[in-house]
Amino acid sequence: MGNINPSVDLQYHNAGHIALVVMDNPPVNALKHELRAGIAEALAKAAADPAVEAVVLTGTGRFFSAGADITEFNQPRRSPTLHDVIAALDAMQKPVIAAINGQALGGGCELALGCHFRLASPHARLGLPEIKLGLLPGAGGTQRLPRLAGVERAVRMILSGEPISAQEALADGIVDAVLEGPFPDAAIAYAERVVAERQPLRRARDREDKIEAARRDPSVLDKAAAPYLRRARGEQAPEFALRAIRGAIEKPFDEGLQQEGQLFLELVQGEQSKARRHVFFAEREALKIPDMPKDVQPWPVTRAVVIGAGTMGGGIAMCFANVGIPVEVVESDQAALTRGLERIAENYRTSVSRGSLSAAEMDRRMQFISGTLDFGHVAEGDVVIEAVFEELDLKKRVFAELDRLAKPGALLATNTSTLDVNAIAAATKRPESVLGMHFFSPANVMRLLEIVRGKATSHQALATALAIGKQLGKVPVVVGVCDGFVGNRMLARRTTEAERLLLEGALPQEVDAVVYDFGFPMGPFAMSDLAGLDVGWRIRKARGVKAPVSDALCEAGRFGQKTGAGYYRYEGRTPVPDPEVERIIAEASARAGITRRKISSQEILERMIYPMINEGARILEEGIAMRPGDIDVVWVYGYGWPAWRGGPMFFADSVGLRQIRDRLKEYAERSGDPLLQPAPLLEKLVAENRGFGSLAPQRLAT
Ligand SMILES: NC(=O)c1ccc[n+]([C@@H]2O[C@H](COP(=O)([O-])OP(=O)(O)OC[C@H]3O[C@@H](n4cnc5c(N)ncnc54)[C@H](O)[C@@H]3O)[C@@H](O)[C@H]2O)c1
Repeated sequence: MGNINPSVDLQYHNAGHIALVVMDNPPVNALKHELRAGIAEALAKAAADPAVEAVVLTGTGRFFSAGADITEFNQPRRSPTLHDVIAALDAMQKPVIAAINGQALGGGCELALGCHFRLASPHARLGLPEIKLGLLPGAGGTQRLPRLAGVERAVRMILSGEPISAQEALADGIVDAVLEGPFPDAAIAYAERVVAERQPLRRARDREDKIEAARRDPSVLDKAAAPYLRRARGEQAPEFALRAIRGAIEKPFDEGLQQEGQLFLELVQGEQSKARRHVFFAEREALKIPDMPKDVQPWPVTRAVVIGAGTMGGGIAMCFANVGIPVEVVESDQAALTRGLERIAENYRTSVSRGSLSAAEMDRRMQFISGTLDFGHVAEGDVVIEAVFEELDLKKRVFAELDRLAKPGALLATNTSTLDVNAIAAATKRPESVLGMHFFSPANVMRLLEIVRGKATSHQALATALAIGKQLGKVPVVVGVCDGFVGNRMLARRTTEAERLLLEGALPQEVDAVVYDFGFPMGPFAMSDLAGLDVGWRIRKARGVKAPVSDALCEAGRFGQKTGAGYYRYEGRTPVPDPEVERIIAEASARAGITRRKISSQEILERMIYPMINEGARILEEGIAMRPGDIDVVWVYGYGWPAWRGGPMFFADSVGLRQIRDRLKEYAERSGDPLLQPAPLLEKLVAENRGFGSLAPQRLAT
């Protein structure tokens, strides 16, 4: 408890010479109103106190401040705003020194930039992550950072949203010193020196030297921003942020600041930032299981076992090694084991050659990974993740073995994409310990982890899987048992519709262009070529299902990138539209008795998106997902749905459910496909004039 208010403490040191203002709003010192008001009051007191010669501003715990309290975004602004507080810093006639004790992010970083000096502890980090919420730093960050660190660094920090270390901040001139000594004592000693040496106040707003080069040559800014703008495509925030930074170069400080404020306001009120904030909260919500008792503790995981050294097994093993958890890969086949371990090493070597991993770190990670043909080693795992071939009988046999050998209480997980987790669990005498951990390929890269809760899965097993997911840096989403779970089940609707579009008259490159322009990293056909067409072909043959175009491509030996040709032909990894494919498609249309027609981009887009939304509604109806937001998280982190469009269910609400229902009806009637008929939940929400966002979290049906 502070003496200014519950969030701010004002202390006097060195015979009242130095005022120490401590922000204390656990856990992250979010800059809520009370904290802002407290800082302003403490500054005013220090300014008025003739004994005080300098002020040190610092935070408690691991945070200087993580920035704005984003729950306040949707409320009216209350003064003092962060702007007001920083203006008060600018107006101070006594030096104010930010003692950055830990993370200084967003508004917290801007607060530090508004001080006259900045000191950092060695483990401090500074960042402006607003772009990740579809925003820009709106409290002077776009104006002060270029002045302190130069245009290139400012662009990198503001447009990537990635934080930098104290050492990098020192090298760039953002902080004045990195202090080893204990905080805040070392900072107080530094403040004494500033006073004794009568160092002039160093306001970032007055600095010009670092932006002079960009002022003379505007291409400096454009060059620095180019890679970020290329990636932004339809997203507004990067372009707005760039405009704000340009203001810092071209306009007097106060005008630049005012423009920054206007740009911020436009973003914060816009749909894109709302979408990004939705994803931000949905990701955190997804970790909450409504029926989970509070006292459930996850099983501690110090060793992992992965069964199968194939594509997925290898990637999953890397996930554990990357965070320092020893992992043993158990194989049935020596050649497969050797190949698998070699592929892991190769993956790391690629990272080393790209400079994203040091050779020493690669060695360290490799030491966490071992391989064996001896199944007895599963006894060592606190968690065992099975990633053998996708065959139910094989998986059942493996789980019967795991049941016999694994230690009591160990979590037994399957990485199956399509098989019934309950059937796999039933092969053991401990189905409560069994669940699905569905990683996405490449498992060491993709962040989504679908955790499949079986009907017997215990709370402890679920809590353990969630904890492992977090430990591995994944984004876990708990889902129910069904064919394809959430992500692939919805994707299947898109795949069917994409094939239908080809038969009716579209070409792969037309469909892909629409989906790419919507914001996905690639369209459905480029994605199929990457994954390989043969996998789906084999599954369709086993299920007696046909996809005329895809089947014809496979029959022609076109399995995608791995054979150099699929829906496209490949020059290296670049897809090139192929007249041969057009011929195959035209023939398939003719065989089906379809007269090909020109299909508009609007229709393509609707048919690529709305059937998935409809399936999402069914998933909610059946209790396969707990919340619409969970589905959004699956699509953003597993399939590259553009975060600034918030995920399919959020997007549906922004389009309007009535419109989607009407279009689906029309497509259902035209195609005769009952799966395109609007889901009952969709009909119900339309009738009640509600959106998916109004649905309360539900328990999974198990
Ligand atoms: N490839 C993907 O994109 C992807 C994505 C998510 C989930 N999955 C699922 O992951 C699992 C593995 O897929 P994959 O692509 O890695 O397959 P894969 O064919 O690359 O690897 C399977 C490995 O399991 C080994 N194996 C087979 N029987 C074994 C046994 N009894 N004991 C130990 N090892 C055994 C094989 O030798 C092979 O190395 C499947 O269930 C698949 O559906 C795959």
